[in-house]
Amino acid sequence: MALLPILRFPDPRLKKIAAPVAKVDDSIRKLVSDMAETMYEAPGIGLAATQVNVHKQVVVIDTSEDKNDLRVFINPRLENCTGSQTGEEGCLSVPGIYDKVERAEQVTVHYLDLEGKPRSLTTDGLLAVCIQHELDHLNGTVFVDHLSQLKQTRIKAKLAKQARVTA
Ligand code: NI
Repeated sequence: MALLPILRFPDPRLKKIAAPVAKVDDSIRKLVSDMAETMYEAPGIGLAATQVNVHKQVVVIDTSEDKNDLRVFINPRLENCTGSQTGEEGCLSVPGIYDKVERAEQVTVHYLDLEGKPRSLTTDGLLAVCIQHELDHLNGTVFVDHLSQLKQTRIKAKLAKQARVTA
């Protein structure tokens, strides 16, 4: 396993569109294991391959208290998004920034598991938010893209300042 560097907003590579995984093989399983280690280490509750500069449709999520419920979504597709909920979101690519985003309350996601088998999951609450947030990454969207231009400008300025301080 290996820790992977996480791209930081507004890195243009976060805007790349991830390609579907053609075959779930050992290289994908290695990527998943590295992504999981990177997510737990950060620590975060979700990570999309886009964030580690791998432009394939792979997402890892663990919203459990005890960090013992790793979920892996390969080639995920959302269906039946219903209702709405608004919660505060953060992102490992946008460190220290949290803001409210409106999401569907309940979603169904179709995906492949680590053996390449088709699966589906219907869920709501935090896990549903996290799935929508991570799938956004695969489409080149970061949660701050859902905020107003004014907020985005402020966030970019704040992150640039942080980068100077830590550089
Ligand atoms: Ni994120």
